[in-house]
Amino acid sequence: MNLNKGLASLITVAVSVTCIAAGSAATDQKTETRIRELLSKMTLEEKIGQMNQLTGIGATEGRMGEIASGQVGSILNEVDPAVVNKLQKQAIKKSRLGIPLVFARDVIHGYKTIYPIPLGQAATWDDELVELGARYTAEEASSDGIRWTFSPMIDVSRDARWGRIAESFGEDPLLNGRLGAAMIRGYQSDDLSRPNTMAACTKHFACYGAAEGGVDYNTTILSPELLANVYLPPFKKAVDAGSATFMCSFNDINGIPSSGNRALLRDTLRNAWGYDGVMCSDWSSIDQMIPHGYARDLRHAALLAVNAGVDVDMESHAYPNHLKELVETGEVSMAEIDEMVANILRLKFRLGLFDNPYVNMKKASVYYTPEALAAARKAVEESAILLTNNGILPIKDNGIKVAVIGSMADDPHNQAGTWVFDFEKEKCLTPLTSLKEIYGENLTFVPAYDYSRATSKEEIPAAVEAARNADVVLAFLGEESILSGEGRCRADITLPGIQKELLRELKKTCKPIVAVIQAGRQLALTEEKELADAILYVFHGGTMAGPAIADLLTGKVNPSGHTPVSFPTMSGQEPLYYNHKSTGRPAAEDVILIDRIPVREPQFSTGVSSYLMDAGPKPLFPFGYGLSYTTFEYSDPVVSSTSIDRNGKLTVSCTVTNTGDREGSDVAQLYVRDLVGSLVRPVAELKDYRRLSLKPGESKTVTFTLTPDDLACLNANGEFRAEPGDFTVRIAPDSEQGKSVTFTLKD
Ligand code: GLC
Repeated sequence: MNLNKGLASLITVAVSVTCIAAGSAATDQKTETRIRELLSKMTLEEKIGQMNQLTGIGATEGRMGEIASGQVGSILNEVDPAVVNKLQKQAIKKSRLGIPLVFARDVIHGYKTIYPIPLGQAATWDDELVELGARYTAEEASSDGIRWTFSPMIDVSRDARWGRIAESFGEDPLLNGRLGAAMIRGYQSDDLSRPNTMAACTKHFACYGAAEGGVDYNTTILSPELLANVYLPPFKKAVDAGSATFMCSFNDINGIPSSGNRALLRDTLRNAWGYDGVMCSDWSSIDQMIPHGYARDLRHAALLAVNAGVDVDMESHAYPNHLKELVETGEVSMAEIDEMVANILRLKFRLGLFDNPYVNMKKASVYYTPEALAAARKAVEESAILLTNNGILPIKDNGIKVAVIGSMADDPHNQAGTWVFDFEKEKCLTPLTSLKEIYGENLTFVPAYDYSRATSKEEIPAAVEAARNADVVLAFLGEESILSGEGRCRADITLPGIQKELLRELKKTCKPIVAVIQAGRQLALTEEKELADAILYVFHGGTMAGPAIADLLTGKVNPSGHTPVSFPTMSGQEPLYYNHKSTGRPAAEDVILIDRIPVREPQFSTGVSSYLMDAGPKPLFPFGYGLSYTTFEYSDPVVSSTSIDRNGKLTVSCTVTNTGDREGSDVAQLYVRDLVGSLVRPVAELKDYRRLSLKPGESKTVTFTLTPDDLACLNANGEFRAEPGDFTVRIAPDSEQGKSVTFTLKD
């Protein structure tokens, strides 16, 4: 059997069964009529022109001829509103049919106002806040004429070595799906034709995050079960949220590059899920099917991409060079071309570009509104994760002497994170700026290292001296922004450069140390956990990270971030994720066995269970974890019944109490375990979550509802449905805690 053919049908059956094809925004007949009328007037060359996307960087003016002859349908990377209007006028006034261009840009976590990287936004577990940030982002970017962003990225990412984990919402399918949908709503609002919206582009379809070894662009080997249960569900949520466009991924899935994967792009996305938006290639991903060894040449790549259903060719030049001939030889039908061009025209109609194509120059370039800055600051406040705290935090006394050590305290460029093409670092407020406002002359700053990879130890003595003269040390550590993002994968995911040695030397002063770590991924922090008295972790926070971090350190804001990824004890533990399989020998105990094996011990059978002897069986910090300056207590869960049938539903409740002395927020998480399956099931699956804000002593009861659909999974017969049997359920503040209660699903 052709695995991929079988896989394709399996995917389609598996995922389609659960999904009433809600599809993208409702297609209205008036638009469809206008599309058909326009298509009937277009030449083949003009149709192919719509399928061609070219970059504007540096070549914009040079595009004037191509635009006038209808050879370009969309332009990415032009952000000057006056130039956008000039090019748009060229398309509308000079091309034969006057079809407007659409201008696109990678606006990934903010345009001018930069929000935390998506991995940081995931740590907020706050759908509404993520949506709000996307809304303000769309208002900023669209004011320069950008009406199409290549975001959200919802690739489930289980390997911290992969640099693009920074752009994802982490390791869980539900979190990626819900926050991706939130971003789509924010970008598109409820009316995409408004000029202050952007078409979302859900990416990278699909399984890009499953890159073998955490190496970018690498092959992915995935079972039908993993596809159906883990990697595809977030994308279905994006379809249901009405994502106007999708982008196919660079990688192959079981040997088929996504840019040529018909089962994925047509059979699953369009036929099973009812998607009617645009499918855009990734940058030159069509021509990359040649080095993949999947296409003989660019002509063959063009044929494969059309057959798969890639509507827009981003910078491969495959379509403009070969589609005409492929139609003339009959290898591609005009009907196929018309269907793909219809998707593109539909996007432009939905964006309102035929009626309102130009940037309103009276309202152009509107950035940094108070609302956007406030949302960006709140996003940092809610994304920061208090990993450890022996009580040193919050720093209550503003009169003490503080040593701020580490250049990451005052590094706007690196504070912003990856994918910030339009970021203005002079607008970025750093932690040092904000801390100086609080501590004034009592603050001493020593950069200690010029950049995170720096190897010079020359400034360590000065740092140690500053620590000796202070009451508390704030050690700002982390990764430069360039150490994550596309093509930025690391085998060693510890603090780079001399940072560890710096921390060791600071520890020798016996002064209390707070480590503030800013990074684009979860790092292996086993030693830092022992050396620091507290760790505040901030995934690159963007424009407003400075005041937010200062407020978190001084207690003006109570940390409430929860990890969207599992933090490893060491790099070699990757890939590492909470929703793993049990195996036949689940790790018996949480020990570092390698430290306990007697010298010259004969071969023995104890301890032979499923984990790495030197890394241990557990993460350093589990998925869903986060501390607060207060404490919370979770009651045992209460279920509405101990069994449900296929038409039933189960409610699960738990009372959460703030048992501390200050207000705080926590994230109540609902985890389920399917105890027996026809395919083995993970030890836990997140099924819902809710942020709760509680005053001291206050209790709130949180209630979640589970239906058999929530328990559905791919079974051994290739059906996507819940299997009868026993499940456990718990409500907890992270993926490892919580008392479980058992219930049964009856057939
Ligand atoms: C890049 C990325 C993709 C991005 C595109 C356009 O290579 O893979 O995420 O949207 O090219 O810049």
